[in-house]
Amino acid sequence: MSVLNAAIIGCGHFGQRHAQHITELHEDLRLVACCDVDETRARAFSETYTTGRAAVYSSHQKMFDETPLDVVFICLPPFAHSDEVEQAAAHGVHVLIEKPIALTSEDAWRMVEVAEQAGIKTQVGFMFRFGAAVEELKSQLASGSTGPVGLMSARYFCNALHSPWWRDRSKSGGQLVEQVIHMFDLMRYLMGDPIHVYSRQENLFHRALPDYTVEDVSATVIHFDSGALAVVYATNGAIPNKWINDYRLVAQKLTVEFTDANHATFYHTDGTDVPPTVIASDQNYYLREIQDLLTAIRTGSATRTPIREGAKSLDLVLAASASADSHREVSL
Ligand SMILES: NC(=O)c1ccc[n+]([C@@H]2O[C@H](COP(=O)([O-])OP(=O)(O)OC[C@H]3O[C@@H](n4cnc5c(N)ncnc54)[C@H](O)[C@@H]3O)[C@@H](O)[C@H]2O)c1
Repeated sequence: MSVLNAAIIGCGHFGQRHAQHITELHEDLRLVACCDVDETRARAFSETYTTGRAAVYSSHQKMFDETPLDVVFICLPPFAHSDEVEQAAAHGVHVLIEKPIALTSEDAWRMVEVAEQAGIKTQVGFMFRFGAAVEELKSQLASGSTGPVGLMSARYFCNALHSPWWRDRSKSGGQLVEQVIHMFDLMRYLMGDPIHVYSRQENLFHRALPDYTVEDVSATVIHFDSGALAVVYATNGAIPNKWINDYRLVAQKLTVEFTDANHATFYHTDGTDVPPTVIASDQNYYLREIQDLLTAIRTGSATRTPIREGAKSLDLVLAASASADSHREVSL
């Protein structure tokens, strides 16, 4: 099996995690190029992860033109996306792209179109889909044994100033768009297509900070095509330096309480005396997300989260933000 040539665009915080995993997957992947508008960061990445062997670029166009690649990891802040997916598609390079894939629906669907036309494999960084407890629930839902899903709730609590671009609504899209999108994506994954969304969002705790223009409390209700309902509540004013996201799902014959994507208790509510089942795993969902993309590249299979899924989850959080702006329910 040949080792695939990989590049990273965006050598920042999250690029590091992917670089570590590329190093771990050395039998499958080799980091051959690092690209960042800040060339010193790209150089430092090349030094740290490849002892300087990976080529260093400050222009992704130049990188695609000069370095033969099989797969690119796009780890850019939402505002910084330009034509990376187009360039990858034009060069036949497969893509792992971090969420949110864009700041507007138009940009997102343009990426979907070029990627699908070129036939490249794509994976969006919604790694919670690869949690052991989420996988178990997904397979039970698909088997039909649970009956229909009626309700899901999810909480996303953190308390950090994050980076300057994150605090700027025009650059990140806000907490829902940039961060809580993980919860919305899980809901879509487990519950199907949303049709209406109503959201309220406020900045209550950070008004004195002039550069803090994103919401820090929000509450959102989603109505799905199946009739099921979901609630997402989020804040950036909870426990400092703790990132908590947990969720509950109620189906007709099963209630699941997650503490995270790898840990959940499954309560069987069909009237039988089956004791609750506990799923507790330490499986690395970031690594599995990459491995799923590699399998798709090698075998031609579909990835779990192709870029179309990234556009659909983006549309849902953008609709929530539009609802918060207008104080009205928004239809999808
Ligand atoms: N899947 C997850 O759980 C998860 C977690 C954290 C971040 N992320 C996502 O990863 C992305 C990046 O976040 P981060 O925390 O790494 O940000 P960051 O600010 O730490 O790093 C971004 C890097 O991109 C570089 N950059 C900016 N514009 C560029 C351009 N046009 N070309 C090349 N490089 C450019 C910056 O110089 C910086 O080095 C975001 O979309 C974020 O949502 C995902």
